[in-house]
Amino acid sequence: MSAAVTVIGDARALPWRSGSIRTVVTSPPYWGQRDYGFEGQIGVEPTYPEYIAALVAVASEARRCLTDDGTLWLNLGDTFNTRAAIRPSSHQGGLGHANDSIARSWAQNRDLGLVRYSARQPGLKDKDLMGLPWRVVEALVADGWFLRCDVIWSKPYGAPENAPDRPSRSHEYLFLLSKRARYFYDKSANLEARSSVWTIPVGRGGSHRAVFPDELVRRCVALTSVPGDVVADPFAGAGTTQRVAFAMGRVGVGLDGQRWVP
Ligand SMILES: C[S@@+](CC[C@H](N)C(=O)[O-])C[C@H]1O[C@@H](n2cnc3c(N)ncnc32)[C@H](O)[C@@H]1O
Repeated sequence: MSAAVTVIGDARALPWRSGSIRTVVTSPPYWGQRDYGFEGQIGVEPTYPEYIAALVAVASEARRCLTDDGTLWLNLGDTFNTRAAIRPSSHQGGLGHANDSIARSWAQNRDLGLVRYSARQPGLKDKDLMGLPWRVVEALVADGWFLRCDVIWSKPYGAPENAPDRPSRSHEYLFLLSKRARYFYDKSANLEARSSVWTIPVGRGGSHRAVFPDELVRRCVALTSVPGDVVADPFAGAGTTQRVAFAMGRVGVGLDGQRWVP
């Protein structure tokens, strides 16, 4: 069997048995950043509360699939409140997007529902950093999750942003959430992961740009599962979680809304 089998489906309806998964390591689409080009994709909701509701639904499905001592590692990045078109990544040729879809006009994007307006985002002004990762985990905690840690994923050698009036942001969040107050966690399994700041260069994505770095997945898998456990990713993308989990003696399972073409 291949190390990275990905089932095609919607992350809000996972095909896995209840109580069968020890840990989930996943990175959902960030809000308003990218058009993955398929019906039912998450991340293109017109307002951020709708995006949060979608992620709460996915996490609730993940919780059903987890063992009672299971955990969820959730990687999220933030964004600024701006008026923007949501376009396919120029690196996503392998996903079947023609270059002309990157060059769509504002009107074409608007008609496709692939625009975001800063004025429609409750409680925020144009230019505000949205604080979306924290808004998402606040909703998850309200839904019953235990928020156990915020890990700062610090990304060295990142491309500098060109905003002249603020520092370049070179980190994302990785949240550790648990289904119950007591859960499986082996702090001795990875010494570099003892602190809550993890410095790891970004992954090399090929045609699927937003891939996890192997090292980030390796740490999560080591800390919250043992060989033989099932490790899952409901936003599998290129299948990094399954591949790394498999190499560590776990069973890796993944789901994505589309098939990844290398
Ligand atoms: C940030 S990427 C994940 C990348 C992955 N961590 C890797 O290492 O390749 C997010 C993924 O979510 C998928 N996606 C978007 N909406 C989805 C949905 N409703 N159900 C399942 N997958 C979805 C996209 O196709 C994309 O592959």
